[in-house]
Amino acid sequence: MSQPLRLGIAGLGTVGIGLLHVLRQQRALLEARTGREIVVSAVSARSRDKDRGISLSGYAWEDDPVALAKRDDVDIFVELMGGEDGPAKDATEAALAAGKDVVTANKAMLAMHGQALAETAEAAGHVIRYEAAVAGGIPVIKSLSEGLAGNEITRVMGVMNGSCNYILTRMEDAGLPYAEVFAEADGLGYLEADPTLDVGGIDAAHKLAILSALAFGVRVDFAGIELEGIDRVSIDDIRAAADMGYKIKLLGVAQMTGRGLEQRMQPCLVPDTSPLGQLSGGTNMIVLEGDAVGQIVLRGAGAGAGPTASAVMADICDIARGHRGPVFGQPATSLASPSPALSQRPAPYYLRMALLDKPGALAKVAAVLGEAGVSIDRMRQYAHADDSAPVLIVTHKTTRTDLDHALAAMGKTGVVNGDPVALRIEEL
Ligand code: NDP
Ligand code: HSE
Repeated sequence: MSQPLRLGIAGLGTVGIGLLHVLRQQRALLEARTGREIVVSAVSARSRDKDRGISLSGYAWEDDPVALAKRDDVDIFVELMGGEDGPAKDATEAALAAGKDVVTANKAMLAMHGQALAETAEAAGHVIRYEAAVAGGIPVIKSLSEGLAGNEITRVMGVMNGSCNYILTRMEDAGLPYAEVFAEADGLGYLEADPTLDVGGIDAAHKLAILSALAFGVRVDFAGIELEGIDRVSIDDIRAAADMGYKIKLLGVAQMTGRGLEQRMQPCLVPDTSPLGQLSGGTNMIVLEGDAVGQIVLRGAGAGAGPTASAVMADICDIARGHRGPVFGQPATSLASPSPALSQRPAPYYLRMALLDKPGALAKVAAVLGEAGVSIDRMRQYAHADDSAPVLIVTHKTTRTDLDHALAAMGKTGVVNGDPVALRIEEL
């Protein structure tokens, strides 16, 4: 039997404590599978006195995660604190400089500093593993970097933020407005400490940027993502979309085109009978498409102590077994610099607007759409009590550019109250 593999764990919150439970409960199984005993040498968190529901007496304590990262009795630095900069990044850099491998669940840090960290690690012959950073318990990093290594990946898409999916499905199921469900989710502890990371789509975009790097052999490019959160999705849109046979999801899509790398994270309509349309609550779903394999669908818990610890543990097991490899599937120095491309792939769009209920109003809207080259597929006008008629239009496939021209012209017709809502309908 080899020497024990010694962990230093920084961060004893949801994921860190989840990991300690897995290590204790599965000790024999982990040793049998990896051929090594996996032990915890030292831990770190902000507060030493906090009751975490588990005894820490067998581990050395460090107040400073950087000191933990440098300890001689640590082989793998496990970073479970979070935050794109600050202690997480400082300690990760310190660990690499001190000759340690790193396992992290920190998508924010990798989305912003993944390239530099990968170059540092690879130059020194160390690994950084991060299965938990994208879609919690779903093994999507391994799927892309190992299981699909023989494929040219053509598209990556999915629902990658459980909190947003919970909010959207709860709005629909309970018929409640966004603000009420947001407050409920916050009260239940479902949202990040800074909730804009979730509802602003930023957390999901961090994950998409990491997947794009792996899938397309490019440097992580968070800034190149077309990003829109769910905070402007109204219960009216959810109801109207349902009426037309769709669900609204915060959907991430990445694909390489002849014009560059398209990456979008935005609320989209998907057919309600599709696997993504059927996804409810906090569950995540990732769809991977490769030239040889076709389409793969991965579904599971995107967050929570058990699922996330499961992914962290898988990374530790990989290192224990001696599986090493570049951070983003190929040497970091060989990753291309992506040129971001705005999505020009035509798609049908959902439009919701309030029309002045007077003769010729609908004709003006139809004319504006026609002049911009946007063709109407389906249309509905709903009963209303005042002089403002709720109108829904589903267009045939059009580009966002043509649609934007139509929307700009609509604003000048004098028959549309307020700004129309326009959401892409994603074909799956
Ligand atoms: P928590 O907020 O539950 O825990 C964070 C931990 O980090 C706490 O123990 C905290 O200490 C410690 N910490 C924070 N700052 C410092 C510091 N300066 N020095 C030492 N320790 C510090 O976070 P989670 O466990 O939820 O998340 C950890 C990571 O995992 C994040 O990167 C997150 O994005 C990622 N992740 C989380 C998932 C989840 O389901 N929760 C899912 C997938 C990824 P103290 O307890 O004393 O305050
Ligand atoms: N806030 C994230 C989510 C946690 O809701 O999916 C997991 O990354």
